[in-house]
Amino acid sequence: MDILSALPNLQKKGFLDLAIDPTIDLFEEINKLKKEKNAVILAHYYQEPDIQDIADYIGDSLGLSQEAARTKADLIVFAGVHFMAETAKILCPDKKVVLPDLKAGCSLADSAPAPLFKKFMEKYPGHTVVSYINCTAELKTLTDICCTSSNAVQVIESIPKDQPIVFAPDKNLGAYLNKKTGRNMVLWNGACMVHEIFSAEKIDKLMAQYPEAELIAHPECEEVILRKAHYIASTTGLLNYTIKSKKTSFIVATESGIIHQMEKYSPDKIFIPAPPENSCACNECPHMRLNTLEKVYLALKYELPEITLSDYVLEKGRSCIDRMLTISANAGL
Ligand code: 13P
Ligand code: SF4
Repeated sequence: MDILSALPNLQKKGFLDLAIDPTIDLFEEINKLKKEKNAVILAHYYQEPDIQDIADYIGDSLGLSQEAARTKADLIVFAGVHFMAETAKILCPDKKVVLPDLKAGCSLADSAPAPLFKKFMEKYPGHTVVSYINCTAELKTLTDICCTSSNAVQVIESIPKDQPIVFAPDKNLGAYLNKKTGRNMVLWNGACMVHEIFSAEKIDKLMAQYPEAELIAHPECEEVILRKAHYIASTTGLLNYTIKSKKTSFIVATESGIIHQMEKYSPDKIFIPAPPENSCACNECPHMRLNTLEKVYLALKYELPEITLSDYVLEKGRSCIDRMLTISANAGL
């Protein structure tokens, strides 16, 4: 199939459905194309190991936005999900941003459609809107300040104590922040399908089986899991903790893709993925995992599927991200 006949499929499937010569070395080809095109591959920790290994930069949502804001590349291949690639596009409106699979969405972002949120806000006049970066670009146009799991506490604390806040879309992160900052933010009722699936009961059993192991958790997890955790942080925060800690085993309550980096940095330590409620591979994000090395190669080669946003969204969605980046820089993050 050639590129032109693949285009209708791109609309339907979300990625270029083209056959790849099985004799080529994808790692070599990707590296060659990156140089030729002055392209950069930015990847989230939840990507499959091959993608992490070929990426120029791997990070959490904050690190990825900071890297997108500073890159000198002409083409950004965003190996992550849709809202992350949108954020990169908002930060770099003049660059081409491609997402290997356009259908790589996010249950959390989907839980807060902008028109519904706008209606919801009619009940809360005068409230400042803080949105977790895991939301659509459209929702960002209705947001005062964005945050990620790395800088959420600093973002909330930058707002005067008596100023009421609506926090969207993650109710688990919101509840964690309310506890941590002593606020009483109004919470939108959204959650991440991956972080909600961990089984408290099975984690208890694992902790009994491995009494030396520490439970480390992402703040998108439910309170029942966070209460048991020895350490709570963003993906980068969790990775850094395992590098510095004297402990040698960890039960990891976040998407299991991060374990690839944990094992790379600490090959002698043991990382046990926290078990989900059932026996599925639910601690792998089905959205993140839509991207494959083959799709990364095709996206880089044909510069498709591209992220495009209206001028209105590019302009109006930017200030909440800029505010977040300024607060992060001032806090040394
Ligand atoms: P961080 O990258 O901020 O740790 O968030 C995790 C996540 O769920 C991204 O989708
Ligand atoms: Fe969204 Fe959760 Fe997947 Fe992150 S892990 S992209 S929050 S569904």
